[in-house]
Amino acid sequence: MSSQQKLYEGKAKIIYTTDDPEILLAHYKDDATAFNAQKRGTIVGKGQINCTISSHIFRQLETAGIPTHFIDCPTANQMLVRRVTIIPLEVVVRNIAAGSLCKQTGIPEGKVLKTPLVEFYYKNDGLGDPLLTRGRLYEMELATPSQVEELQNMALQINSYLQNFFEKCNITLVDFKLEFGIDSLLKLQLADEISPDTCRLWDNSEADPQKRVMDKDRFRRDLGNVEEAYQRVLERVLSAVETI
Ligand code: TMP
Ligand code: ASP
Repeated sequence: MSSQQKLYEGKAKIIYTTDDPEILLAHYKDDATAFNAQKRGTIVGKGQINCTISSHIFRQLETAGIPTHFIDCPTANQMLVRRVTIIPLEVVVRNIAAGSLCKQTGIPEGKVLKTPLVEFYYKNDGLGDPLLTRGRLYEMELATPSQVEELQNMALQINSYLQNFFEKCNITLVDFKLEFGIDSLLKLQLADEISPDTCRLWDNSEADPQKRVMDKDRFRRDLGNVEEAYQRVLERVLSAVETI
């Protein structure tokens, strides 16, 4: 399928139209940003690694009954996806305290949460992606109560699947961010990507709190060896996929 015009360029991906109006091509970039793009850099090989990891995870989630926008991965850094209308929400699931949860609440990093938390953030760079209450979300008409219920259930189902999958990789899934779209039949579909850019992943074989970090926190916090960490996640994902 030939790619045609550029439809949209985000921080980590460029979206192109294809000759089928229902199908888009996502080109994964090596560009990395953090803190609402105040920090910028390049993670060499990230585009291919994130696209490949996301493709494997989307395929498996589909098999587990989660509808996703994934169609195919024609080259290592390109993904064909179903065209959906993205809901401007970042759905974050947390199993272990880290990142903004610790900053905003004082809960110590590494505390295993009593139950997974599902949080909704408004996907709006101009406003700095603020955390929403359910009331604000409904007032802004970002999703209906039944869609929020469905998003929450899907997010928890995806969490159970991913926790189990990353355990096979000897990795702890600390937290992650999901985005969803609505297709032409008004059905919710998991969209965007699932990768070391959008998850916190801790290496179970490393006790040191800095060495164990295998995700974008290495870039955010200048921990070094960013490319090596992404590559290690890819290798473990590929080995785990072979055993399924
Ligand atoms: P946070 O602790 O900074 O709120 O991040 C929670 C999770 O969401 C973490 O796995 C990183 C991911 N995330 C994104 O994918 N994109 C973002 O813009 C932010 C802020 C977080
Ligand atoms: N993706 C966001 C940004 O580019 C934030 C982050 O991942 O830390 O600014």
